[in-house]
Amino acid sequence: MLSSTSANTATVIPLHSYQAVQHELEAGLLSDAAYTSPKYFYDAVGSVLFEAICVLPEYYPTRTEAAIFSTHMADMAHVIGAGGTLIDLGAGNCAKAARLFPRLHPDQYVPIDISVDHLQDAVRRLQQRFPHIEMTALGLDLSQDWVLPSEVREEKRLFFYPGSSIGNFEPAQALHFLRHLRSLSGDEGGILIGVDLIKEHSLLNAAYADSLGVTAAFNLNLLRHVNRVLGSDFDVRQWQHLAFFNPEKSRIEMHLQAQADVRVSWPGAHRNFIRGERIHTENSYKYSINSFVDLLASAGFSTTRHWTDENGWFAVIYAKAA
Ligand code: AVI
Repeated sequence: MLSSTSANTATVIPLHSYQAVQHELEAGLLSDAAYTSPKYFYDAVGSVLFEAICVLPEYYPTRTEAAIFSTHMADMAHVIGAGGTLIDLGAGNCAKAARLFPRLHPDQYVPIDISVDHLQDAVRRLQQRFPHIEMTALGLDLSQDWVLPSEVREEKRLFFYPGSSIGNFEPAQALHFLRHLRSLSGDEGGILIGVDLIKEHSLLNAAYADSLGVTAAFNLNLLRHVNRVLGSDFDVRQWQHLAFFNPEKSRIEMHLQAQADVRVSWPGAHRNFIRGERIHTENSYKYSINSFVDLLASAGFSTTRHWTDENGWFAVIYAKAA
């Protein structure tokens, strides 16, 4: 679905039919090595669980990135300059971008998120705090082909992509995505992006297998979401959360592992999983600063600056359209 909200209007335009979504899910579940797209984490419960993950002691990315922004915001604003169009990719509750407003003074703010209901409430509240900024909220799926509607101004577009969500793309898809941003950014535009860096494996593993089991609930909840979309009969009690760093691929992998032989059915098909078999639910790639700067260069951006925390765990990178 794509919907846009600008001030008092709300338009809903169907982007992908429900059938296409079911087809995509079915193809993944019937594949030899079963997989699902990480976008199925984010139903209402999953979005709340993700917010909880972000404040867990083991999940360092959110607080580390926030500290980088608060320490270096003035410098970032100096390098980026004020005004223009701030396009917030995967905006969620819009809190991260709102912290940039007092320094970057955007003329227009364009939050984009797959979960449009969540977004509309946040934008309504934000518009009251910053009435002079034009706000145009868009609900769209960034993992599919997407375009910006004509309501989005072309002047000095800054794509804001915090949280290291770029890590959830396969490297080839990440390049494709960044090239797409480059094509939309015009010659004056740029990107401000958060990137999770390679670090000690024990820290990475703990961040995705926290001691309270919140990430496990987040992973398992995907099955309930799939049940609603596909009409399947997954029983979450038959599955276990698995997360580990794969150093060859420089990525955290998340899987759901069958705890017994399981038969899962949905209208028109079924799949038998044997005990120990897995469904691959997410990859979260970790980069070095150099490897990410190279990726940006291949996409047509020239990297202007980067800022990191004192441990070198996370980086915020600003790159201009080259
Ligand atoms: C949204 N994304 C950047 C998170 C990550 O770290 O890859 C999703 C997540 N998965 C498990 N914990 C958090």
